[in-house]
Amino acid sequence: MQSLLKFITCGSVDDGKSTLIGHMLYDAKLIFADQEKALELDSKVGSNDGGIDYSLLLDGLMAEREQGITIDVAYRYFTSDRRSFIVADTPGHEEYTRNMAVGASFADLAVILVDASKGVLVQTRRHSRICALMGIRHVVYAINKMDLVDYDQGTFEEISSEITKMAVEYNFASQYLIPVSATVGDNITKISKKMPWYHGKTLLAYLEEIDVTDKTDATGFVLPIQRVSRPNREYRGFQGQIEVGEVAVGDEIMVLPSGNKSKVKSIYNMMEQVDSAFAGQAVSIELEDEIDVSRGCVLVRDTELKVGKMFTAKILWMDDAKLVAGKNYYLKLGTNTVPAVIMNIKHKIDVNTGAKVKAERLFKNEIAVCDISCADQIVFDKFKNHKDLGCFILIDRVTNMTSACGVIEHSLRREGNLTWHEMDITRDLRSKQKGQSPKTVWLTGLSGAGKSTLINELEKRMFAAGKHTMVLDGDNVRMGLNKNLGFKETDRIENIRRVAEVAKLMNDAGLIVLTSFISPFAQDRQNARRIIGEDSFVEVYVSTSLEECEKRDVKGLYKKARGGEIPNFSGITSPYEPPTHAEIVIDTAGQTVEESVDHLMKELEKWGC
Ligand code: ADX
Repeated sequence: MQSLLKFITCGSVDDGKSTLIGHMLYDAKLIFADQEKALELDSKVGSNDGGIDYSLLLDGLMAEREQGITIDVAYRYFTSDRRSFIVADTPGHEEYTRNMAVGASFADLAVILVDASKGVLVQTRRHSRICALMGIRHVVYAINKMDLVDYDQGTFEEISSEITKMAVEYNFASQYLIPVSATVGDNITKISKKMPWYHGKTLLAYLEEIDVTDKTDATGFVLPIQRVSRPNREYRGFQGQIEVGEVAVGDEIMVLPSGNKSKVKSIYNMMEQVDSAFAGQAVSIELEDEIDVSRGCVLVRDTELKVGKMFTAKILWMDDAKLVAGKNYYLKLGTNTVPAVIMNIKHKIDVNTGAKVKAERLFKNEIAVCDISCADQIVFDKFKNHKDLGCFILIDRVTNMTSACGVIEHSLRREGNLTWHEMDITRDLRSKQKGQSPKTVWLTGLSGAGKSTLINELEKRMFAAGKHTMVLDGDNVRMGLNKNLGFKETDRIENIRRVAEVAKLMNDAGLIVLTSFISPFAQDRQNARRIIGEDSFVEVYVSTSLEECEKRDVKGLYKKARGGEIPNFSGITSPYEPPTHAEIVIDTAGQTVEESVDHLMKELEKWGC
C-alpha cells in the first residue's frame, strides 16, 4: 500500500515554488488527479476503509476552516510509483504568514526554498520558525537557483552551514539540504551532472523515501467529544474521533474535566455496533452510568492530560489589530470553545535571531510567548506530547476573525498550587440575612454623562428603603485601589477587571453594588459581566451625548482634552463603544436628577433590585 506524504512548500514569490513542484510533476510524469480522485485514493491509504474521507482535507487547523475564513491555500494531489502526495500551496503574497501557518498545520514535512544567489534571508528564518511552531518535524531546504551561482559547491556549503547552525534551535526530527535548480531541473527528479560534488538524493527520491510516522509518546486512550447524540430516550451516545489508542466494551474510562468514571456499554462505528475501536475512527460511545458529558469533554484512559484554566503558550499573531494584554478572546482547542484572556505577553521572539524581546503589544505576524487564562476548566496537554490537545486558535469576540494560533508550552503551576476553599457562611446565607438579592448595577457612559450623580441619588433611595449597598466610583477607586493605573488601553482593561472582581466579592458579601465607570470598551464590560455572573449583572447605559457632556463639562476636562492637555480622553481622543444590549438605557439630558432616578428605580425593580 502506498503511503501518503502531506507537505508544504515555503518561499516567497520569486523563490520558484511553483516551478519546483511543476518541474517535479512534469519530469516524473506524475498524475494530477482531480479533487475527488484525490480523496478517494487518499482514503485508501487513510483510515476510512476505502470510503471517501472528506475530513482528510479538513485536518490541520480545522477550527480555522470551520470559521469559514477564506484562506488562500490550495491543496494539490499527485502520485508517483512509490508514494502519494498532497501539497499545500500557499501563495506568496501579503497574507502569506497566515496562509503558511494554516498550510503548515496540515503538513508532515516542509520544503523551504532558499535562493542560492541570495543566501539565508530573514524569511528563511521566519519560515523555519513558523514550521517549527506549527509542529512540522521534517524539513527539506531546497537550495534553488544553483545555475545562477555556477553550481558552485562553496556557495552551497556556506548556505548549508548557516542553515545547520540556525536550525539547531528548532529541533526538527530530520532536516535535509539539496542543491537544485527548479528551472533547469537539476536534482529534482534526476541527479544533476553539473553538481558531481553532491552525493545525496534528488528531491523527489527524498520525498518518496522519508519516514514521517509520528513517534510521539502519546499513550492510553483519548476521545474528545464533539457531539452528544440522543436519538431516543434510551440511548445517549458521545461522539467524536478517537485520537489516541483503543477502546473496548467494558473498559473503564474517565471523563475530563469532571474526573467522573464509568464503563463503556456500547460502541458504534459508522452506524455499526462493534466491540472495540481505535485511533482515527469516528465513534459513538455509550456509557453505563448517567454522567454529565458535553461537547469539549474528553473521554480518557491511562493518560496524563492536564485539566486547568491557565497555561503558557507560544502564539503567532495574525490579526491586523494589535494584541494588548488583558483583552478577551474565544479560545478554541480541540472540540472546546471558552472565553479566555491573554494575561500578559512574556516576550516576543525575534524571528531573525530567536532572541526574547520585551513587548507590551504584538503586531501582525509576530510570535510571542504569553500566559493565557480561560474562563472555564479545559482539557489540554503540551503540544510536544499531544498535537491535537496542545494547539488552539484565538477568535476575536467582536469580528469573529481568527486572531492567532498557538501551541501550549506548559500549564501554569501557580494555578495547581491554589485550592478554592468553600466557606460555611455562603453568599446565599449572607443575602438571606440581609433580605435582598445581591446585584451589581453597572453604569457606563462618557465622563460627565451623570453617572456619579445618578448613583449617589440612587444609593440614598436604596439606603432609605433598607437595602445594603456599596458604591464603587471611577474617580474614587482611582485614588486608592487603582492609583497605579492610568488611561491607556491596558490600564483601562485592568481597571475594569479589578473593579469587577471587587464587585463580585461585595456581591458575595450579600451587598447590592452600584458602580460608576466610563468602562468604554465593550469587551471589558463583557468581561465584567462574566466575572460577576450573568444573573447578578445589570448594565445601565447612561447615554447622554458627547455634545451634552461637553457642554456641561463639570470638571473642565473636555476643555483640557480639546486643548491637548489630557491624552487618551474618552470620547475625544480615545474611543467609547456604546453598549448594544444594556439592560437599561437612560438619557439624562432634559430630565431632572429626580426624574432620572425615578425611572432608574422602576427599571431596576424589573431586574430584581
Ligand atoms: S475608565 O475608562 O477606566 O472606566 P474611569 O471611570 O475609571 O475610566 O475614570 C474616569 C474618570 O477619570 C473621569 O470621570 C475623569 O474624571 C477622569 N479622567 C482623567 N483622565 C481621563 C481620561 N484620559 N479619560 C477619561 N477620564 C479621565
